Formats: sequence, C-alpha cells, structure tokens
Amino acid sequence: MNEQERITQLRSQLHDHNHRYYVLNSPTIGDEEFDMLMHELQDLEQHHPEMYDANSPTQRVGSDLNQEFQQVKHQYPMLSLANTYNQQDVREFYERVRSGLQGAEFEICCEMKYDGLSISLIYENGQLVRAVTRGDGVQGDDVTQNVRTIRTIPLVLDAEKNFPKHFEIRGEVLLPFSEFDRLNEQRMNEGEPLFANPRNAASGTLKQQNSRIVAERGLDAYLYYLLGDEQPCDGHYENLQQAAEWGFQISQGMKKVKTLQEVYDFIDYWDEARHHLPVATDGIVLKVNSLRQQRALGYTAKSPRWAIAYKFKAERVSTRLESVSFQVGRTGAITPVANMEPVLLAGTVVKRASLYNEDAIRQLDLHIGDEVYVEKGGEIIPKIVGVNIDERPIVAMPVQFPRRCPECNTPLVRYEGEAVHYCPNDAGCPSQIKGRIEQFISRKAMNIDSLGPETVEAYFNHGLIHDIADLYRITVQDINGDGSRTKSATRIVQSIEASKEVPFERVVFALGIRFIGETSAKMLARSFHDMDTLASATKEQLLEVDGIGDVMAQSIIDYFANETNRRIVQRLKDYGLQMSLADDVLASRTDRLAGQVIVISGVFTHHSRDEYKQLIEMHGGKNSSSISKNTSFILAGENMGPSKLEKAQKLGVRIISEDEFLEMINP
Ligand code: IVH
Repeated sequence: MNEQERITQLRSQLHDHNHRYYVLNSPTIGDEEFDMLMHELQDLEQHHPEMYDANSPTQRVGSDLNQEFQQVKHQYPMLSLANTYNQQDVREFYERVRSGLQGAEFEICCEMKYDGLSISLIYENGQLVRAVTRGDGVQGDDVTQNVRTIRTIPLVLDAEKNFPKHFEIRGEVLLPFSEFDRLNEQRMNEGEPLFANPRNAASGTLKQQNSRIVAERGLDAYLYYLLGDEQPCDGHYENLQQAAEWGFQISQGMKKVKTLQEVYDFIDYWDEARHHLPVATDGIVLKVNSLRQQRALGYTAKSPRWAIAYKFKAERVSTRLESVSFQVGRTGAITPVANMEPVLLAGTVVKRASLYNEDAIRQLDLHIGDEVYVEKGGEIIPKIVGVNIDERPIVAMPVQFPRRCPECNTPLVRYEGEAVHYCPNDAGCPSQIKGRIEQFISRKAMNIDSLGPETVEAYFNHGLIHDIADLYRITVQDINGDGSRTKSATRIVQSIEASKEVPFERVVFALGIRFIGETSAKMLARSFHDMDTLASATKEQLLEVDGIGDVMAQSIIDYFANETNRRIVQRLKDYGLQMSLADDVLASRTDRLAGQVIVISGVFTHHSRDEYKQLIEMHGGKNSSSISKNTSFILAGENMGPSKLEKAQKLGVRIISEDEFLEMINP
C-alpha cells in the first residue's frame, strides 16, 4: 500500500472510530490507539498536500483563520413550529389532523424538542458540503467550518451505506450541560461575563469566527428532519432510522404512536425523564409520520399543519432575595449575583443566581427582600424570572448597581453598546491583578504549572506578590519560611525561572492586555518584533496588523500609556524574559513584499492559509480580506470563490499562483 492509499484507509478508519466513540458510545479501540492513527494521518497529510480534504478527520480541530460567514439561501425554507402548552391544544391538533386526512388512519411520531440552534446540513455523494444556520428562515450563515468540529456530525458517510446522492438533514446544535458548566466556570475564573444558558452559549460558539475555539467548546448535534427528493421511505420515523444507519446521531427517545392517550403518556414520561438528558430540551414535537400524509396536510404561512410543538412548563419556585453581590473578574467585568434563601428546585438546592447586568436588574425592578420567582428551564444556572410585587416589604430598597468597583472603589465604566460594566482600574484593582496573575501563569501564556489559583491568592494576600513581575523575585526562602517544603518551593522557583525562555509571542499574550488573545498577540509580535516597538506603536500602525481592530488597538495604546504597566514590563525585561522575536524567526524576514497589499483566496497545498498570511507579513507585505483597486495581487489556491474571481477580473488585479508566490519570496 502506498502513502496515498494509506491516507485514504486511515481517513475511513478514523471516521468509523469517531462514529463508534461519539455517536454509538461503543468504541472498539482505546484513546491511545486512536491518537496514534490520527498522528499517522496528520504526518502523511503533511507530506501529501495534494491530498488535502476539508472533510478529513484531521480537520475536526478547526483553524485559527478568521472566517467571514457567507449568506446562503435555503433550498427549502426553514419554518418554525406552532407552539402548544396544554393537553387541550394537543387534542385540537390531533383532531385537526384527523379531519384533514378525512378519517384515514395515521401515526404520530413523538420526539424531543431540543433547545439549541437549528442547522441545515447538505450532503453530496456522502460528503458534508455545507452547514447553514436558520437565519431568517429563508437564508442563513454558512458555518460549515465550525460545524466540521462537531464530532457527532459525520463528515464523510460510509460508501457501503445506501444514502441518496444529494440530501439535506436538519437538526439542532447544542452545548451539553457539562460543557456549558465547564465553559462558564472558565469564564468566571477569567473574569468574562457568563452565558445565560446553553442555547446562548451554543449560539455564541457557532458564530465564532475562529473555528479552533469552536472545536474546544464541545458542541453536539441531534438530527430530526430528513429532506430531499430521494427519501428512502414514506415514514419520517423510518427515514431517521435510516439516517442513524448512515452515521447520524438522531433525536433520542423517538416513538411512533396512534392514539391521543399514547401522546399524553409520552409527554408525561419525558417531562420528568428529560432532566437526565445531557442536553437542554424544552418540549416535545409531534409529527404526522407519513410523508404522503404530510404533503396532503400542507403548510400555513408560518408552519407545517402536520407538526406541532408542546412546550414543557419550566420548573419555578419562589424564594426571598437576601442580597446581591457584585463580583469583579480578571478583565474588570462586574457580574451581579443574587443571594437567596435556599430553596429546592428541580432536585437541587438553589441559593445563588446570576443577574447578568444592570439592565437585567432594572427590568426585574428588583428590591432587597423581594419574593422572587426562580426558574430552571433548560439551563443549570437558575435565573430569576420575576418578582411578586404584592409581597414586597414596606421599606424595601431597590437593588442598586454600584457606581464604583466593590474591590477598589474606582468609578465603573460601561462601553458603548455593551451591557456589562467594567472597573477600569486594571493596574490597581486586587481582583483584576489576581486574575491577571492567574492568566500570566496559565498554560498558553507563561506555563508556570507549579502555581495554581489558590497559591496565587495566598501569595497575593500575604503581600508576597503585588503584580506579575513580582513572581520573578520569589525565592525558595520566601515560600519555605519554616523549612518544611523545600522540595515544592524549589520546584516553584525553578518553573518560574524556566518561563524566562517562553517565546516573545506568548509574553505579549501573557501581559493580559484586554481583548488581546493568543492569535492577536502572535500577530502583534510578528509585526513589531520587540516589546519597545510594540509599546510605542501608534494606533494607525496597530490597525495595519491583520486582525487588529479599533477596540484592540485602543486597548493596546491604553495599556502602554499606563505608567504602572510600563514599569511592570520594564521589570519583566530586567528579569530576563523574552522581549523580542527569536533570532531564527527574525532571520527569515525580508522586505520582498514591502508595500504590497495581498488578498488570499482558495485552498492551498504547500502551506495553510494561516502560514501564507504569516509569510506575507514576514516579508513585509500586508494582508487584506477584500479586493479593491489597492490590491497588489491575489494569492490564489484551488477553488477561488467565483465572486472574488469576477471582482479581480473587473479591477484587473493580478492573480498569482501558490508556486509563483513561493518563487517571489524565495527566489
Ligand atoms: S422539526 C417544519 N423537530 O424547534 C418542521 N424541530 O419551532 C421543522 N426543534 O426551528 C422542525 N427539536 O429549531 C423539529 N425534534 C424536532 C425539534 C425541532 C427542536 C426546533 C427547531 C425549529 C423549532 C421549531
């Protein structure tokens, strides 16, 4: 078997293992073996760029490349379902169907109503070619890159299976509760505002421009609707069973029933049982099973006559609001938290609820001592949905959002268009400093893994450290006062020392400049080469860097304009941290592309798009995402978008192939 054949074989094996692991929950190989196969494939693919495949299992990890979502028209509009809330409504639906079908026998398929975001997946010849959000129902965003990271969605179907050449399958993208909790906990630690519920988190994730972040978030999907001209059977239920055979994760607990009583029983059963599902559900969907009968019943302007949603009542209890505390995160974001008299709700004792922001508090017209209604819909974090004004104590104080930071007393600010208040005292606010030290030592920054949040907290409270630079002053003696912990103290000091070798890109990230993530830090490092140049860059110069927008540029300016920050950076420099790009990175720089504005389009074989962007910058060129008369040339790979091609031709912009480009920079 040659390497190309091995690639094909590995791809098909890995698709199969993925399906067994994520959809069927019955893997036949261990994690280690899986990783080995994956690594082998990654290596081979590197050597065979001509075999690039957007649906290879290696593509599940996403890419840092910022994407713009294209609007795509749905082949069949994405309608919504009419909602019902009680048995009476359900009976009326059942009767309408019965009379619509003129007394013919019919079956109803009962299934879960998932509370996520609907998605339409298009498959051609067994390959996922496009994933589109619902949008306005007529057209939505093309989020294919992001959807490729969802492991339960097959990228390539097993050719042995008998699926139609072209079909569409719809379902719901969700963030499982476990992932949602993990994400919010992480955001809490990082001082980022929390997501209100898994649906918002899933939606925020799916619209991420960076699919690598999507890959880390652990989205999931359940499919519940097969469309297309060649359906295998006349039954909706049967079609979905087929889809499960092809590798899709379909709606859980589906059941075909005939009588109204059976429908009620299904609803009653799942009203309780849904609490044990890994994802949020907010009701039951009832569908006439036969496609022929569905066609006979047809549609109203907004929704099908052959289906309806029954919505569960969210569990709601009332309790008393005792106080509201305001937490300050690493970025200075203020999160109000309600402290309530403990109460039992959906099986757990609840005593705290996030109030999100000032507007949310205003809307509720919340007063201390109020009797509040607390609900747990799909989400795990309970929320206050209302107030019983009749029970308000006579002298109740309205909840006041603080004007000053509860930690450091600095007046709070609210940025235009944002709901969240921030404490702007990044250099002096204890909560923010502690948060920043935690981010500084984190794996993706300085990777000082012998320290954790508790140690940082303790050192800070004991006055051992006041800022990130103080870490480099710590001695074994400092930590090991009584001499009982020589070993761990030595380890801590050693790992702090070792962090001095961490490359400049990560030092930029580690500073914790607001809005500057890993990728933008890298871009900044590569554009400005060293800390002094970065610190003295003008806003115009910053804006020229790929991926740096107005807010980020201003944040960098503000950071270095601050005396305290400048002193910290100077001390880090004196301690010997890497304050410029490594020599080998610098040595490969030229100005062969100086003054050129270059647009990248299409799929490449020798390097990834990210790498080409970096190459352009390394040789003094400038990346741009849209073609204009200022464009010097387009670096075009395979399958350049037709609209870009047309525009290039119209403006007479030169198109350069990958090989020509490589020749240009390495003559
Ligand atoms: S079928 C024409 N089945 O509910 C019928 N929808 O208001 C198409 N949903 O936008 C939808 N679970 O996002 C269907 N088992 C299920 C569903 C489901 C959740 C969502 C879907 C749709 C909305 C309808």
